[in-house]
Amino acid sequence: MIDINKIREDFPILKREIGDKLLVYLDSAATSQTPRQVVEAINEMYYRHKANVHRGVHTMSLEATDMVELTREKVRRWINAESTEEVVFTRGTTEGINLVASSMGEMFANGDEIILTVMEHHSNIVPWQLLQRHKRIRLRVVPIDGEGNLNMAAYEDMFTENTRFVAVTHVSNVLGTVNPVNDIVSIAHRHGVPVLVDGAQATPHMRVDVRAMDCDFYAFSSHKMYGPSGVGVLYGKKRWLSRMTPYQGGGEMIGNVSFEKTTFAELPFKFEAGTPDFVDVAAFGAAIDYIESVGIEEISAHERRLLRLATEELTKIDGMRIFGTSAGKGAVLSFLVGTASAYDVGLLLDKLGFAVRTGHHCAQPLMTSLGIQGTVRASFAVYNTEDEVRRLAAAVGRVSAMLS
Ligand code: ALA
Repeated sequence: MIDINKIREDFPILKREIGDKLLVYLDSAATSQTPRQVVEAINEMYYRHKANVHRGVHTMSLEATDMVELTREKVRRWINAESTEEVVFTRGTTEGINLVASSMGEMFANGDEIILTVMEHHSNIVPWQLLQRHKRIRLRVVPIDGEGNLNMAAYEDMFTENTRFVAVTHVSNVLGTVNPVNDIVSIAHRHGVPVLVDGAQATPHMRVDVRAMDCDFYAFSSHKMYGPSGVGVLYGKKRWLSRMTPYQGGGEMIGNVSFEKTTFAELPFKFEAGTPDFVDVAAFGAAIDYIESVGIEEISAHERRLLRLATEELTKIDGMRIFGTSAGKGAVLSFLVGTASAYDVGLLLDKLGFAVRTGHHCAQPLMTSLGIQGTVRASFAVYNTEDEVRRLAAAVGRVSAMLS
């Protein structure tokens, strides 16, 4: 069991008030809050080590470089990648997916097909659509059942001789469904097709092992993992990254530059043009340390308890509709109550101190398939309590009575 009081002490923001109400932060799927340990790591970088990385011979540059590379090694261990050459720092999950779509996309031809799922976030739809400006690429979309599970038979049937790529979310940001990524990858590999997994909603909540999963790419963000904003990771198998052309050009991603011919740096630096967000990358290492100090299994178990309680309590409210009831789902709860719009519920909850997300959650095709405009979404993290969940249920009951 985690020591929830001790953990909450690490997050000073949880003491703030919204109006005259104590904040209840239930929007961690959008961004998690940041513990002191990570904020202190950012301060430490600014106060003592701020120097550009991979460039200088002076002490501070070497220190900053070591700190960035130490985070890269922590990430490698965290996801069990084979080598730090396979760990590319990006601005976030979105940039990682755009990088793959852009670079892998160069290898695609007219008529090629990419398999996505209906529950994808826009960041795993639009980058693939951008390819369609230049090539006639067909997107095939795997549907879901009433609980929010992927239709795996439909997925298997989608493979044709033209299938070139599969891009799928690990955990749905709306439904919480944890997709069977190991099966998804092994089916794709039987057809010789590589797979990208969007891990944005998975890495804060569960142990991820890219080698066991055998995915070809895995993208995720620091800011959902109690880390700083503006930093993400793209894991890619070396065999793919070494064949792919750089996504952006600039300093530090080169081997040698002349106007006649430029060669590129070794992996992973070939994909890290320009000065990286070295302060936040370094501090992301402190976020991984934080998660490891609490224990990812303990975090998962805590969030599962909160989700179970929230589901039980909200289900008691008249007119409650919960979207996403897949077994073993992650710690998000999307709902609508009565005829109230998600927006109105969200606004009134805010007046009571609750921060929830409302709307389409950057998953409009999913909303269309569910026949709704949007939902209210409560999402849980290590610092949430059972008392907060009970207060949420009471507040939703109150709000829904006001709006009906
Ligand atoms: N993708 C994030 C969410 O679901 C922003 O809220």
